Amino acid sequence: MSEIPGTAGYSANAATLAQQYESLRFEDVHREVLHLFPDVPARVLDIGAGSGRDAAALAALGHRVVAVEPTPELRAEGMRRHAALPIEWIDDHLPGLHRVQALGVRHDLILLTAVWMHLDAAERTAAMQALASLLAEGGQIAMSLRHGPVPEGRRMFDVSAQETAELAARHGLRQRFLGEREDMLDRADVRWSFLVLQRPA
Ligand SMILES: C[S@@+](CC[C@H](N)C(=O)[O-])C[C@H]1O[C@@H](n2cnc3c(N)ncnc32)[C@H](O)[C@@H]1O
Repeated sequence: MSEIPGTAGYSANAATLAQQYESLRFEDVHREVLHLFPDVPARVLDIGAGSGRDAAALAALGHRVVAVEPTPELRAEGMRRHAALPIEWIDDHLPGLHRVQALGVRHDLILLTAVWMHLDAAERTAAMQALASLLAEGGQIAMSLRHGPVPEGRRMFDVSAQETAELAARHGLRQRFLGEREDMLDRADVRWSFLVLQRPA
């Protein structure tokens, strides 16, 4: 198993996966929650940014974006594909996010798109504490959770949006949105939850 929680299976398939991630549009992936995102310019942290699709779209809109990606091959894809945009790429990972914490910045929007279900229960507990400490007043976490069979070679857990909202509530974060939808890549056995959590202003 990979030494960084959750990253198993990503390095070897990075080029193919990056192409798959970039085949989706930021506006489509986040269509139900886009209206909740902060006005430009906001401080955005995209954790598990992959090939940088969302980081790039948000940077192009004028936000100040930090992209965190622990898989070196995916980080390299993102830096190469979106080199023209002012994205700060950081090699760091959940649950601790120690390098991000060292920046001393609180963020208005934290994105975790298809990442959270890679952490086990103990890691999720520690990670939620780290995330809460990185949120500005009024700041939001927008995450998607994948449900369905675990792809071969990956490390993934069955995590409900409900339990995630309950964990967040213990850190003073309230649920602002919860929705479910089908897979955008048309995999019949895969569904997604979308959850937006907010630190009260
Ligand atoms: C399914 S991909 C999603 C990539 C991107 N967010 C997107 O929506 O296209 C999951 C990403 O989470 C990253 N990841 C896995 N475990 C992680 C961890 N412990 N901390 C941060 N990122 C992690 C992987 O390296 C991978 O880039």
